[in-house]
Amino acid sequence: MTTGPGLAARRMQQSDLDDVLAIERVSFAAPWSRDVFLKELANRAARSEVFTADDGAIVGYVCFWVVLDEAHIQTIAVHPNMRGRGYGSAIMGHVEEICLREGVRRIILEVGRRNTAARNLYRKCGFTAIGFRKRYYAEIDDDAVVMEKWLTSSAQVNSESGADLR
Ligand SMILES: CC(C)(COP(=O)(O)OP(=O)(O)OC[C@H]1O[C@@H](n2cnc3c(N)ncnc32)[C@H](O)[C@@H]1OP(=O)(O)O)[C@@H](O)C(=O)NCCC(=O)NCCS
Repeated sequence: MTTGPGLAARRMQQSDLDDVLAIERVSFAAPWSRDVFLKELANRAARSEVFTADDGAIVGYVCFWVVLDEAHIQTIAVHPNMRGRGYGSAIMGHVEEICLREGVRRIILEVGRRNTAARNLYRKCGFTAIGFRKRYYAEIDDDAVVMEKWLTSSAQVNSESGADLR
């Protein structure tokens, strides 16, 4: 995979939602609605970040919750035209940085059993499978693999990422 240009990360705002929803709708069989994103933005446990390229365009986003010392990834996506450039790995590295700052010890997530790209991304980022949830994604008739990663303060945050995060 080629090394992409640097990404900048910032908090997701209401004004980002048109761009975020455009990516969301081409990324998921059951995309989140604007209302769901608005609830995320209002939720004190939720952390929602957007990632922009040099021209300011949003290339990806992530939403996750931090509850005590555990984080749960809710959604992550990269614009289809921008995939395979290391951005997904860079986004996950940024999630880890926030988690380490906030004292999170474990990150947990669900991923579709047939979602090879995402499963490979998480594996590359150091997540391991700990279980399954049968037909968790009923709309696409897929099971979820539950994955976790334990963090240590000396964790190598995304050292293999192809993209830099400013
Ligand atoms: C999953 C997703 C975020 C990955 O983003 P990305 O920017 O393409 O990821 P990266 O370029 O950082 O790739 C990281 C690793 O993921 C894996 N990967 C990425 N695309 C892949 C593909 N098409 N097939 C197989 N593995 C793939 C590879 O292991 C890759 O590491 P490598 O570059 O060393 O080979 C992106 O495919 C996406 O937005 N998918 C739709 C939304 C989605 O499914 N989200 C996950 C919900 S659980």
